[in-house]
Amino acid sequence: MDRPDTHHLDTDHLEAAEEVHLARLTAVDADSDERAIEAALRPRSLAEVVGQQRVREQLGLVLDAAKARGRAPDHVLLSGPPGLGKTTLAMIIAGELGAPLRLTSGPAITHAGDLAAILSGISEGDVLFVDEIHRMSRAAEEMLYLAMEDFRVDVVIGKGPGATAIPLDIPPFTLVGATTRAGLLPGPLRDRFGFTAHLEYYEPDELDRIVHRSAGLLDVHLTAEGSAEIAGRSRGTPRIANRLLRRVRDYAQVRADGTVSLDVARRALELYEVDEQGLDRLDRGVLDALCRRFTGGPVGLSTLAVAVGEERETVEEVAEPFLVRNGFLARTPRGRVATPAAWEHLGLDVPRNVTGDPTLFSE
Ligand SMILES: Nc1ncnc2c1ncn2[C@@H]1O[C@H](COP(=O)(O)OP(=O)(O)OP(=O)(O)O)[C@@H](O)[C@H]1O
Ligand SMILES: [Mg+2]
Repeated sequence: MDRPDTHHLDTDHLEAAEEVHLARLTAVDADSDERAIEAALRPRSLAEVVGQQRVREQLGLVLDAAKARGRAPDHVLLSGPPGLGKTTLAMIIAGELGAPLRLTSGPAITHAGDLAAILSGISEGDVLFVDEIHRMSRAAEEMLYLAMEDFRVDVVIGKGPGATAIPLDIPPFTLVGATTRAGLLPGPLRDRFGFTAHLEYYEPDELDRIVHRSAGLLDVHLTAEGSAEIAGRSRGTPRIANRLLRRVRDYAQVRADGTVSLDVARRALELYEVDEQGLDRLDRGVLDALCRRFTGGPVGLSTLAVAVGEERETVEEVAEPFLVRNGFLARTPRGRVATPAAWEHLGLDVPRNVTGDPTLFSE
């Protein structure tokens, strides 16, 4: 059997090696180099986590109660968009419990056997973190139901008529699942989590605190206004805030005196083409095509994609979620439509037939 992708986390091995990052600055995902940098910026305790007040309080209670009882806490599901702190919270859960964290991910569990191998290596009180849990194989999912509920798995030995299932007890452990797509989780799996935390996008003042905190860790000098400017362009997402901070720091070091002031932040972000509302070149390109070429739509996704010279998927999955969430673009049955905010953002007059009536923009 292949060794599934699991290991004890040892963050000391993760180096905060900085590199020139040419990928899209406002991407919600992080590549592997960036994940190493992120590790250095992760809050280590619940008290250090900025924002997510409700989740912090609820999770704190779950953990404190379990500690008081001397038992492994209920399984925890962390759901929410990329870059809001799911992995961070999973590590904090293990940290707060003083328990080892075992790390794997849905895509690494392609067979039930992969999961069986992980579960059979678990010790009492371990925290098993399954990232992207919605991408696990079906057979593994069923094995996981049993493990979560009865702390047992049936390991099947052999194939065909001669196969036998050997029941195996697993010591009580805590499963922490993370998903960006809670809706894709089958009901029975979702129901077996004793606690679900939904992470929300962050407010600008929370992002501001995150930028300050990260600047402290990275030894970056920054003014209150410089920090607020970065926070305001970060799309409610700590990952993006941290990334913009690193790019603005580069600019401050090379083109200024090293301090991230309001002026430096603005000049840097203009250079990187991230505007006041956090829209990047692709986002603006989509809105621009929609308003100028298609007079606000409705226009089909494929046509719009051709107009901006991108793949359909890129427009749909990369640009649109943020544009829709921020009320610049609406998906209607007849196609994509620019909202009045889109026209205004581009500095164009809102045509008279475009109204702010939200019912016109419903799906
Ligand atoms: N509440 C927070 N306070 C401070 N920093 C945070 C917070 N949430 C996230 N971060 C920072 O944002 C970065 C991304 O967070 P994390 O990796 O936990 O996101 P994620 O939800 O697991 O994303 P993905 O869905 O892509 O796996 C980390 O570097 C982390 O330090
Ligand atoms: Mg993660």
